[in-house]
Amino acid sequence: MWRSFWGLVPLFLLGLAVWWVGSSVLSFLTSYGCLIVLVLVGLLSCYASRDITSIFTPATGLFGGWVFVKVAGLLTGTSYANVFPLLLSFQSASPIVIAGRVVSVVITLLVAGWFAFSGDDNKLEASDVDGLHLVNNPALGTARWATWQSMKGQVASGWPKERGRGVIIGKLQGQVIRFLANPPVSPHVLVVGGTGAGKSVGFVMPNIYAAAMAGDSLVVADPKGELLQATGGWLQQQGYDVRVFDLLSNRGQGWNPLETVQSEQEIDLLADTLIRNAVKDIGRETAYFFALEKSALMAVMSFVQGLPPGQNHFLNVMSLLIQPSDVLGQLIKNRGPKAAVESWGQVESAKTSPLVGLSARLNIIRQTGSLLAPEPGAGIDFSMLRARKTALFCILPVGDVSLKPILAAFYTFLFRRLCYGQQNINSETRTVRLLLDEFANLGHIGNFNEVISIARGYGVNASIVLQTLSQLRDLYGEAEARNISGNCGLQILLGTQDFETAQIFSRALGYAAVRMRQDRVNLTLGKRYLERGADEVTVRRALMEPAEILRLPAQKGIAVIDGKPPILFRKINFSDEQLGKEVLSHGPGIVPLRSDPPESVNLFDLLTMTDGDSCNSDIDGLF
Ligand SMILES: Nc1ncnc2c1ncn2[C@@H]1O[C@H](COP(=O)(O)OP(=O)(O)OP(=O)(O)O)[C@@H](O)[C@H]1O
Ligand SMILES: [Mg+2]
Repeated sequence: MWRSFWGLVPLFLLGLAVWWVGSSVLSFLTSYGCLIVLVLVGLLSCYASRDITSIFTPATGLFGGWVFVKVAGLLTGTSYANVFPLLLSFQSASPIVIAGRVVSVVITLLVAGWFAFSGDDNKLEASDVDGLHLVNNPALGTARWATWQSMKGQVASGWPKERGRGVIIGKLQGQVIRFLANPPVSPHVLVVGGTGAGKSVGFVMPNIYAAAMAGDSLVVADPKGELLQATGGWLQQQGYDVRVFDLLSNRGQGWNPLETVQSEQEIDLLADTLIRNAVKDIGRETAYFFALEKSALMAVMSFVQGLPPGQNHFLNVMSLLIQPSDVLGQLIKNRGPKAAVESWGQVESAKTSPLVGLSARLNIIRQTGSLLAPEPGAGIDFSMLRARKTALFCILPVGDVSLKPILAAFYTFLFRRLCYGQQNINSETRTVRLLLDEFANLGHIGNFNEVISIARGYGVNASIVLQTLSQLRDLYGEAEARNISGNCGLQILLGTQDFETAQIFSRALGYAAVRMRQDRVNLTLGKRYLERGADEVTVRRALMEPAEILRLPAQKGIAVIDGKPPILFRKINFSDEQLGKEVLSHGPGIVPLRSDPPESVNLFDLLTMTDGDSCNSDIDGLF
């Protein structure tokens, strides 16, 4: 809008120049001359753009010129016909002044031409397909770029105010677009962007702000801690309880998975998630060892879970896994709870012990200090996300897969606590937003396929951020990946260099009917005919071809909301926004250091426990 407004200025000057030249010939002719020029320019521009409304821009410019002359005449008390001779006539001026005027006219024409024909080469209007004019021909395709009007009901404009909801997408015509996810559209979001495409500054940071405005609790997967660095302090100032689960340093809080699990089934899920994410490919030949290692881990975890508070942590699981198989077996059978004894039975009946392999696979946990062994009661409790405004940052490494087992287990149980067994979900229940930047680095989250299908009903909205769409398929397989992306009511592309991703988005944008020029050149030199001409035909064309998506300008992104036309938006750079600068100015806030790791339990103490201390005593009343 502003561009077309400023575009009027040179056109206005152009009108003035035409008027001036005309008026210096004969003022009477000038009036009609300008009228003719006005109509001609209008028709020409109409023809060039095939858009009737384009007649208004030059017309407004020329009309502006006329108004200027009129006002100048009134102000100087000069009669209308004498304004130009007085101000600009050739006769009364010296050669140098005339030369100056000629130069100014030339400059005016150049500037006007530049404005008329330059601009954003990649400017794609709702009625264009990469410069081709869209026509109404549903038989060939109905795809259109969205306008504010066509997105009605699913979006709102502007940054959210206090209690304002929505997911920030980007900007259209200078206004922020917010996705409202009104039923039946799913509130989950899938964001795809290659490295440096603006996933963090263009999507995650604006949406941390949006979540805080809505008063939702937040879970942020934070690569390298850049998001905590940017928004932690501001969130604390907004009254958020900021918690940090940091896999890179010893600050924040720990999480004790063994305090979290509540049933034998969950012990199974925890063991499955840990091992699955520590193994590269669970092929047919490794399936047997996978099952064996899982049984061993379940046995040891069940045993350690039965130890008194302060000892029932993961470092003790690791300590026991390096014990000789027979000693461990004896301990579990003599002192362990029923579930542990049962799981151990399968390990014992196998020819080879899985302990060495298992211990090596999970060795990374030994190096995480108190991360999985917090002091009793001091670890992260997921229920706080519902109880009060909480922002939980999970700081993870990028490009280091060794911590995947821990991350995957953390998110598996986070989703489980949020979405299963939650009674009394009502309008008062606090919504939890998950902003999962670098989602592929979180590993394979157990049951994610099912969880994403039911999360909406539990007030849980997830935004999955990926580098390419194939990452999702690699993690969850073809069918589950389809289901997961199908459960996202909004899909955003911030730019990609991956052809497959470009192809999928191209297909999602659909096909349009466009007007195409077809040249006929048949310059027969024989007797009959000599032809040169052009036809206009209507053809079917992808709204954006994959190759065009690969070349998407850096400042543009594409969003597809279920049931609405696709949006071609301008990306946000949060650190450039006034509001973003204010948020970022607060820094990471205060994050306490974690306590030192506890001492590992002494095997001798365990073996010599009296019966009164037995782990069979069903400490948590769970088994
Ligand atoms: N809309 C934008 N306008 C201008 N610059 C931008 C925009 N979006 C991103 N940038 C620039 O690109 C850089 C990378 O952005 P960002 O960290 O958000 O990308 P990313 O997709 O998260 O990358 P990575 O995969 O490395 O995490 C930023 O430092 C920022 O300066
Ligand atoms: Mg990033």
